[in-house]
Amino acid sequence: MNPNKVLWEKGDFTEIAAFMRQSGEAIVRSLGITTPLLVLDLGCGDGTTAVPLAVLGAEVVGIDIARNLVDAGNRRAAQAGLNRLKFQEGDACSLQGVDDHSFDLTLSVFGAMFAPKPFDVAREMVRVTKPGGRIVMGNWIPYDTTSFVSQLLKISASFTPPPPEGFISPMAWGVDTHIIERFGQAGVPKEKISMVKDTYYFIAPDKSPAQFIDSFRRFYGPTMNAFEAAEKSGRQEELHNQILELAEAQNRNTDGGTSIPATFLRVTISL
Ligand SMILES: C[S@@+](CC[C@H](N)C(=O)[O-])C[C@H]1O[C@@H](n2cnc3c(N)ncnc32)[C@H](O)[C@@H]1O
Repeated sequence: MNPNKVLWEKGDFTEIAAFMRQSGEAIVRSLGITTPLLVLDLGCGDGTTAVPLAVLGAEVVGIDIARNLVDAGNRRAAQAGLNRLKFQEGDACSLQGVDDHSFDLTLSVFGAMFAPKPFDVAREMVRVTKPGGRIVMGNWIPYDTTSFVSQLLKISASFTPPPPEGFISPMAWGVDTHIIERFGQAGVPKEKISMVKDTYYFIAPDKSPAQFIDSFRRFYGPTMNAFEAAEKSGRQEELHNQILELAEAQNRNTDGGTSIPATFLRVTISL
């Protein structure tokens, strides 16, 4: 089994995506969508950005490695009556069956960054996007204390066994030199790449930070793995306390709920 697929099919990412809908919609609004537009949403999950793109009239293909999220996305599309939105299973490292130059816009918000072969991912995103089209990525930033998920994953990694040799951290997608190198190898000169820091919000007005992080413990593959490893070494309380401390320190909701601003790197490539 592909460990990348196993990781994301573990748990139920739709429970985490529920905290991400508002910023997903805000990102889509900021893209200045004009139709007709063919969009690929890569690593789309259950459609946090794909659904609002389709609501704005774009024709959208969502590709994700996790079968359960593809199914959840197709259920959301059917419920919303969005018949120009389709979710399908696929791997960002090798977009088999997707023709060259198919899309006006290739979007990947915290999606393709988790695929294990970043140079292949950059090449594939460039290959399937039309000349004159755009690639937009949202990536978490390593070593940035305000980039909530990068901090969560850093804590989680400190409780899990070291990754296999050759593992490339997804967080490298949050570093400008890596982005320039990866897209450079895919034939994109650095003048065509722009990068800007932006803020994403995890919003759960009816959940305290403790309840919010409990959702990560129960439903988010990387955190679930960390707790499984921590339980084996009797350190689950330590892990819980560290994650809770992170969420409480970042929380801006003063009404008992959770609202965490998280810095990310927004990358735009004009082909
Ligand atoms: C943090 S979630 C983000 C999902 C969605 N973009 C959103 O904003 O809610 C990461 C997503 O990337 C997907 N993913 C991870 N590796 C992938 C790969 N190699 N190819 C395609 N999708 C992948 C996961 O299944 C998951 O849905």
